[in-house]
Amino acid sequence: MSRVVPLTLLLLLGCGNAFGVLNPRGPIAAHIHELWWLLFLLALLVFAPVLALLLYALFHSRAKESAPRRDVERRLVVGGGLVMPIVVLSAMFVLTIRSTVELSKQPTTDLTIQVIGHQWWWEIRYVDYGFDTANEITIPTEKNVRVELQTRDVIHSFWLPELSGKVDLVPGHTNAVWLNAKEAGVYQGYCAEFCGLQHALMKFQVIALRSDEFENWARAQQRNALPPPDALAQRGLQIFLTEECATCHVVRGTNAQGGKGPDLTHFASRRTLAAGAVKNTRDALAQWIREPEKIKRGTTMPPTLLSDADLQALHAYMESLK
Ligand code: CUA
Repeated sequence: MSRVVPLTLLLLLGCGNAFGVLNPRGPIAAHIHELWWLLFLLALLVFAPVLALLLYALFHSRAKESAPRRDVERRLVVGGGLVMPIVVLSAMFVLTIRSTVELSKQPTTDLTIQVIGHQWWWEIRYVDYGFDTANEITIPTEKNVRVELQTRDVIHSFWLPELSGKVDLVPGHTNAVWLNAKEAGVYQGYCAEFCGLQHALMKFQVIALRSDEFENWARAQQRNALPPPDALAQRGLQIFLTEECATCHVVRGTNAQGGKGPDLTHFASRRTLAAGAVKNTRDALAQWIREPEKIKRGTTMPPTLLSDADLQALHAYMESLK
């Protein structure tokens, strides 16, 4: 028992750091957080007396049958088995309905972003600005961002614990979730619905920037890719176009117009590869190109067998896609 308590505490602290459910940083998450505590306290109201009675029963031998004792028992059964559940469950019902109504209110929209789930990555469309990106959603702080959720294959779930609740991406239907980040920063998001082999590696990040920084970022993303800066990168672009890359990926401003995988026009500005599976570094990219199965088994990204020289040229090109 003495070991269990600190372990549980550690686990809870671990959850707090990893998921931030207990650390809301936006109005919707704050509301859910408040509801969570209220439900937790109500559950405690039932759990604590039940535990106390259980311990009492364990350590006290049964007294002889008597009229006063039967009276006590009857009161316990009626109070604990009827009155208490009615009070607690009614309170939970009212609180949950109140939150459901509150959270379904639609605030005025400052920005609309479409998020499309794929096995196993997120396509991000900035419909107001006319460009696409993947796996990283940049938003302005203090603005109401409407995120429209769709899926191209199975059911996924969009979960950003510090800013919003979970909302499913359902085939043939568009759901919406609202984000409003009070502070600039990076928020970790997850797919919260089992969607196949790499469900656990279907992560995303929300990057909240001050409004002026966001506008600068969006203007940079709207631009087509710059021409390769040198001969090595130029060769990299040729490899990109002649190997399989261009069949699935778009690089705006080039002949690469495949629509199956993530848009790579500003690939070098991203922090991670393969929906948060690994950091976007040179070594990780080399492995992702040559042996994607080692990073993400079951991925639709095929292996591309390149010589060291070709890989170096392709790197030079990918790194120029800022
Ligand atoms: Cu997508 Cu789990």
